[in-house]
Formats: sequence, C-alpha cells, structure tokens
Amino acid sequence: MECPFPATSPLLLARYARIRLGETLVDEPQASGVIHYVIEGAGQTSAASEQIEWNAGDVFVVPGGGSITHTASDSDAVLWVVSNEPHIRFEKLQPPAQESAPTSVVHYRADEIDRQIEQLYHIGQDQETAGTALIFSSDKQQDSRNVLPTLTLAMNSLPGGAMQRPHRHNSVAVSLVIQGEHCYSLIDGERKDWAPWATTITPPVSVHSHHNDGDELAMFLIVQDGGLYYHARAMGFKFVDD
Ligand SMILES: [Fe+2]
Repeated sequence: MECPFPATSPLLLARYARIRLGETLVDEPQASGVIHYVIEGAGQTSAASEQIEWNAGDVFVVPGGGSITHTASDSDAVLWVVSNEPHIRFEKLQPPAQESAPTSVVHYRADEIDRQIEQLYHIGQDQETAGTALIFSSDKQQDSRNVLPTLTLAMNSLPGGAMQRPHRHNSVAVSLVIQGEHCYSLIDGERKDWAPWATTITPPVSVHSHHNDGDELAMFLIVQDGGLYYHARAMGFKFVDD
C-alpha cells in the first residue's frame, strides 16, 4: 500500500499483543479509539482514568490519544488490537484527548456476547439477511450504531454447513477467526482457508462469500471502515448472486 506508517488496510491497523505475566504493556496509539478482543488469558487495562478487568472472549474499546496500560493476571495474555491509527496519520491529525474522544471505555463481556448471539438465532432470517451478526455500539455512538465514527464492529456467525451469500461493499473487512473448522472464504473467485486466530482481509469492492463446511458454529469478529462509507452515503452493499 506504500503507506509511510504501519497499516493493515489504508485506514485500519490490526495487531496482536502479547502481555507477559509480571510486565506492563503501554500502548500510546495515534488513534481516536482502539478495539481489543481477548484471545487468551485475563488481565487489566487502564485508560482515561478507568480500569477494567477482562477475560478470554471479552471485547473492549478504549479511547486513543493517551496511554493505554495492559497487565496480565495469572499467565501471559494475548489481545487482538485494531485501531484507526492509519486514518489519523494519513490526515496528519492528532487524536483527541481521551476525555473528549468519540468513545468512552466500553467493556463487552464474553458471556453477554454469547447470550446475545444465541438470541439472534431465535429471530428468523430470510434470503435478504446478509449474515447473523451482533453489532457493537455504545452510548456515544448509538445513533450511528458504530463503535467509532468511521469504524463498525460486529461478531459474525455462520452455522455448520451454511454459507453467506456472495456480496460486495466498498468498506474493507478485517476479521479475526475465533472459531470454526473447515471454513473458507471465496474472494473474487479465489479460495482462502481460515486458520485459528488468523486475521483475514476482504478487500474493498471484492465479491466475497463465507463458507462453513464443518459441524460447529463459526465465529469471526469483523472490523470495517464502514462508518466512513455510511457517512459518505457510499457503502455500495450488493448481493451478487441474483
Ligand atoms: Fe462482507
């Protein structure tokens, strides 16, 4: 992409962070907010004068523009960390102070995420349903249903033997594979097999579908720069199999 700064897609940066027991990991992102998923372990994070205690499977979002301090509790911990740092750096902007950031510290616990996903399967869906996804938002972003002004965050799920219809959109999708065996995506006709805890990228405008040939429910956490495209009235979502 020839960006003069780290970037996973032009406007998003996804990283894995290992927090060693007994050490402190300090992140000072040039971002307006940072999304975290706890892959392994338990620990604490301090940011914006708040402290949260997290466990495996939790999601938490914290404002950028200051220090974010992570420590692990009983063993090493691993986080998936996604921010809009490339967007801020592209514009040569400074992130807002944590108190005035577009997100507060928001913690979504694993048991509540599981409970909400289970409820989704009690609500019917039809052929126009793009997928069965839990959308994350917060008090500061509830009007847009985004997690940050330009970012959307969703836990997507796909039952065993199911597929998500081929479609396209103008936002990129950067996803973390959380569970699922014998799963793959078709991206512009090319098969991409999933691997445990891999970060997958669906490029903007590509035609893609997701497939679960296994027996268990597949889960993947998706960050998109969708807020940007919704705001610009340019998401360009379309099913392409009809
Ligand atoms: Fe998609």
